[in-house]
Amino acid sequence: MLNNERGAAVRPSFSRWLSQTNDITQQFMAMGVDPSFISMAGGLPAAEFYPVAAAAEAADRALSRWGAAALEYGPVDGFMPLRAHIADRMSRMAGRHFDTSNVLLTVGAMQGLDLIGKVLIDEGDRIVTQYPTYVGALDAWRPRQPVYTPLDWGKPGTSVETLRSAKFVYGVPNYSNPTGALVPTPARAALLEKALEADTWLVEDDPYLPLQYDGDAGPSMLALDGAMMPGGPYNGPVIYLGTLSKSIVPGLRVGWVIASPDMIAALTLAKQSTDISSSMLTHAVALELLEADIEKVHVPGMVGHYRERRDALCAAALETLAPWFEWQVPSGGMFVWMKARNSTIDTGVLYARALREKVAYVPGSVFDPAGVDTSSMRINFTRNAPDVLREGARRLAVAAKDAFG
Ligand SMILES: Cc1ncc(COP(=O)(O)O)c(C=O)c1O
Repeated sequence: MLNNERGAAVRPSFSRWLSQTNDITQQFMAMGVDPSFISMAGGLPAAEFYPVAAAAEAADRALSRWGAAALEYGPVDGFMPLRAHIADRMSRMAGRHFDTSNVLLTVGAMQGLDLIGKVLIDEGDRIVTQYPTYVGALDAWRPRQPVYTPLDWGKPGTSVETLRSAKFVYGVPNYSNPTGALVPTPARAALLEKALEADTWLVEDDPYLPLQYDGDAGPSMLALDGAMMPGGPYNGPVIYLGTLSKSIVPGLRVGWVIASPDMIAALTLAKQSTDISSSMLTHAVALELLEADIEKVHVPGMVGHYRERRDALCAAALETLAPWFEWQVPSGGMFVWMKARNSTIDTGVLYARALREKVAYVPGSVFDPAGVDTSSMRINFTRNAPDVLREGARRLAVAAKDAFG
């Protein structure tokens, strides 16, 4: 949090926003500096698997192929050849045609979330979302002061009336951040049907799709909507967010929004005053990597390592953390969501104790739109090797024993 003399000089409303906003991401990045510290907090991929050589070759090819155009300001909605590539990729994935008017390239999926806030949220607007939900979305939308209602994917689930009262629904159906949960296909189809009936937007944030460990994720709501509305350019209520952050590297900062042409036009206008244009260079490099089918080469091996890490963490947790916590083994994504076995266990209290043991996780309150959850914590398993995860679980158990007996 901004807590210095300059902080006092910012707008009072911004200052209030800062005081509620989580600087947790920055804190976790800083923890990486001390090699004896084990951070299982950040939602970070494993850097040792980044395709550095392939990226270097792609950068060379991109500059030879596009020359000065790769170093220019570009169109606000992104490098056209990459937009066309993403339109084809998403058409193949969803089994229906998207053209470039359905595609906006963004600086990661995160910028898509920010632009959605800019375009859709007025003060007091209702957002129906998973509880707990992605902290980045909560932080991006906080200055616009929305109110939240929990999304129930179950049967009968959130009612059409509730959806009617909302500006939009926000969900991460594939291996959610923070819970790792996978929403079954019938529940996605049911929500889509209700959103169509309620005439509300449905924001489907899908960064974890490539990280599948046990079987298939099932169709996205975008694909299900395509099946219900055959033919023509996509004009439905789904605003789909994709990214290369988890399948290739986060540092490219390449993400995209798929939505109706009207929504894409509005988001593009909002983007113009945010960044003028994204980096054409990273778009051109991403295009080279995608045309070389880098994901086919790169993702299966990386996913194998991640599966091994998930299994190592869950096995170690069974031996060390089970007296205090319970969890479901996630079938994809990056996180294990641990729930306290009883109300005397407070993950905010444990957090301070864990830092002294030189281990970190993210307390559940950060992901709670109401900010009150003290019974959960998110543990990342992709960033650290199996041995480090085992040591991290051991340190957490030492902290838990000390704090709660
Ligand atoms: C649910 C969710 N949405 C969006 C993002 C942002 O991803 P990107 O790196 O593409 O900006 C993340 C990052 O962890 C995430 O977990």
